[in-house]
Amino acid sequence: MASSSRAQFSSRIGFILAAAGSAVGLGNIWGFPTQAASNGGAVFLFVYLLMVFALAYPLLVAELTIGRYGNANPIKSLRSIWPQQRGIAALLGIAGMIAVSMILSFYAIVAGWLFGFLIGPILEAIGFTTAANWLESFSTSRNLILMVVFMIMTIMVVRNGVANGIERWSTRLMPVLLVLFVVMVGYILTQEGAMEGLKMFLVPDFSHFSSGLVVSAMGQAFFSLSLGVCSMMVYGSYLRKDTNIPKTAAQVALLDTSVAFIAGMLILPAMFVAQHNGVEIYNDAGALLDSDTLVFSVLPAMFETMGTGGVFIGILFFVLMVIAALTSSISMLEVPVACATEELQQDRKVAVWWIGGLITIFSSIIVFNFGDMFGLVISLTTEYAQPILGVCFALLVGWIWKRDQVLQEIKEGYPELEQSLFWKIWPWYVRVVCPVMMLMVFFA
Ligand code: PHE
Repeated sequence: MASSSRAQFSSRIGFILAAAGSAVGLGNIWGFPTQAASNGGAVFLFVYLLMVFALAYPLLVAELTIGRYGNANPIKSLRSIWPQQRGIAALLGIAGMIAVSMILSFYAIVAGWLFGFLIGPILEAIGFTTAANWLESFSTSRNLILMVVFMIMTIMVVRNGVANGIERWSTRLMPVLLVLFVVMVGYILTQEGAMEGLKMFLVPDFSHFSSGLVVSAMGQAFFSLSLGVCSMMVYGSYLRKDTNIPKTAAQVALLDTSVAFIAGMLILPAMFVAQHNGVEIYNDAGALLDSDTLVFSVLPAMFETMGTGGVFIGILFFVLMVIAALTSSISMLEVPVACATEELQQDRKVAVWWIGGLITIFSSIIVFNFGDMFGLVISLTTEYAQPILGVCFALLVGWIWKRDQVLQEIKEGYPELEQSLFWKIWPWYVRVVCPVMMLMVFFA
């Protein structure tokens, strides 16, 4: 099945950082802290951790394994594990491809805002106040132009392929992001008001527990680990046969969760520091402001308290946010592009432009109908498509794919895995526990 000319990640660490790059993005830095803040803090953190390790991690192993076995784009990989029903298998791949393209279409809008907050302060510093204001306030024209800029960046990286594009960018930039985060947490914790946020994040108050919270935590875990939409499957297909999938997946999940955790340690305290300094964080009804307003009022307020150095830290922070978003968006665009290059035998350089172009058009439609469509597309993709396709992949691996083949693929290059606890638990876990857990949460 393996065609030796197919692209691969050139190193193990390169793959881990690329997969972690896909996982770490707006979902961690943005979604997780604001969800935690509006769902009672520590209780959400606790349920989230449970969801990541008890549900998302085993599914991450499943998606990576399907991809590596197929050694092809998701449509073909899914067909190779379900040869009796090639049509249905292909439909699942196509559904994942459409879902991930829709995710990219809203993701690019938000990433565009970040880009605005990166350029805005620079323009302001050199006297272009009107342009800076335009970049930092909500308008259709701004949303449109910045989204297009971000889409072009994504297209350019994916155009260069796996090792030179995706891997090179992810390896360099992920570590810088982590260091900057730790430094910022160190700073914010010295500020007045921070302890209140820290307490909210770490000390559980179980009165906040609800079934809605569990659903949100599951959705957040799926989104954060890029599950259910074939991104991890396509990255798995570039994985070398000598990689230990369970271990690698664990490292990716751990890295992703650490970044979310550190982001929580930053954003929740920063919210209360901002409140202490007079920034409004609750609306008139007493609920937290929505996440975009929150991050865009709280973080700039924090950078201001840092004096002149704050301007630079702020710029650096938004640079890294854009990069984190970019390492995720490339893993989205890679799904349809891999399908087009292999299924339609197209040149990668051609495929990126027309597919990227179509997604940009869809994203523009969202921009022009922002009020009606933005929230709708987010909820359709993250609340429905991701978990539903996730259940389908678990059922495929657990019930349809031949057990011997699954296990053979996982232990490839690692015969000693057979002695591990993972080996004893994982197969029936994905077969029974994962689907049951997801269906229960879903129908709650
Ligand atoms: N995991 C990414 C994030 O947290 C988002 C993503 C979702 C990436 C689905 C790929 C596929 O921002």
